[in-house]
Amino acid sequence: MEKVRLGIIGIGNMGSQHAGNILADKCPEIELTAVADNDPARIEFANEKYPETVAKFATAEDLINSGLCDAVLVAVPHYDHPTYAIMAMEKGLHVMVEKPAGVYTKQVNEMNDVAKKHPDLVFGMMFNQRTNHIYRKMREIVQGGEYGAIKRTNWIITNWYRPQAYYDSGNWRATWSGEGGGVLLNQCPHQLDLFQWICGMPTKVSAHLHFGKWHDIEVEDDVTAYMEFENGATGVFVTTTGDACGSNRFEVQLERGKIVAEDDKLYFYELEVSEPEFSKTNTIPFGCPKGKVVELETDGENPQHNGVLNAFASAILHGTEPIAYGFEGINGLTLSNAMHLSEWLGKTIELPFDEELYYNELMKRVATSRRKENVKSVVADLSNTYGGTK
Ligand SMILES: NC(=O)c1ccc[n+]([C@@H]2O[C@H](COP(=O)([O-])OP(=O)(O)OC[C@H]3O[C@@H](n4cnc5c(N)ncnc54)[C@H](O)[C@@H]3O)[C@@H](O)[C@H]2O)c1
Repeated sequence: MEKVRLGIIGIGNMGSQHAGNILADKCPEIELTAVADNDPARIEFANEKYPETVAKFATAEDLINSGLCDAVLVAVPHYDHPTYAIMAMEKGLHVMVEKPAGVYTKQVNEMNDVAKKHPDLVFGMMFNQRTNHIYRKMREIVQGGEYGAIKRTNWIITNWYRPQAYYDSGNWRATWSGEGGGVLLNQCPHQLDLFQWICGMPTKVSAHLHFGKWHDIEVEDDVTAYMEFENGATGVFVTTTGDACGSNRFEVQLERGKIVAEDDKLYFYELEVSEPEFSKTNTIPFGCPKGKVVELETDGENPQHNGVLNAFASAILHGTEPIAYGFEGINGLTLSNAMHLSEWLGKTIELPFDEELYYNELMKRVATSRRKENVKSVVADLSNTYGGTK
């Protein structure tokens, strides 16, 4: 195989961006051979914009069974991510799943179990923020261990502003039955994945969620979560889609320093001695360990979605590592499910939680979900650029 023949399932906003990038030769080891979408308007779009060499299907099943693809990229709304990933793997196709891995961990575990039966297939997750030089450097320092254990983490990620029109642009958006959650399920899968990738998984989660606080929606658009790690370290995670001048500041306090990512810059506060050591040996009542702050240099690379797809193709063709294995998708989802569960039950959730309980609680919300009728999907006009990048 010289190139991976890829089929994209779902050519809405994101799927059509991926298609556009591939057709614009940004993924040299991938050939787009098919797309599928169950909205006839999107098939019309594809017929107009994509060459004849790209087959168009009205169902994911037809694409998967077409024999035209070695791999699929699943870019439909969240509930169906595991459905089509499983279907494709069972047909012997490599799979890349858009974030989040799914809506609830029970279905994602089922997907992971099928993937385990197909170790020959590459199973990747579209965690494009892992390609960002800032977060890669942060992980290197935190996981490197030179600066000691984590004491505290704080991430305020409130620059995901979305106006009401965004929520009105698709009938699945911001509904329990169509999307399965709000900012935690749509925008924050990136940060929750990065959080666990850089800091590891906490053991306890307690959260306050507000549903439809800033928008006319039924799911959460405002979250404040508190987490605890096995070593006693704590974490606070704050997010919303309601702040028009939001922030993105992620800091990790280590025993011998502090790393801060903010405004696409990375600062490191390095102490001469570790704080626990200093506190034990210092005799001056208001003493404080000396240190310095530097802006860290990185390799500056940030290939985002194309970087993930190129690594996926390379994993299939050359056996290299993907950016994120599909199996890893469950970690961030576990955090967001735990945050929902904590709010719904009004208590701290210990990980791993009872996934059957989560499923039942979610289904209660699904049963009373206000599915939006007569909403016409609005997809960005990508006609000039074949999608371009974000
Ligand atoms: N990685 C990122 O940066 C990023 C950015 C945006 C969206 N996403 C993810 O991409 C996915 C899609 O989001 P979007 O904004 O493109 O949504 P969208 O509504 O614009 O597109 C989804 C498309 O899937 C089609 N579809 C729905 N159900 C289908 C089915 N059963 N079979 C075939 N087609 C079906 C719809 O008709 C639509 O065209 C979501 O999981 C979202 O979280 C990822």
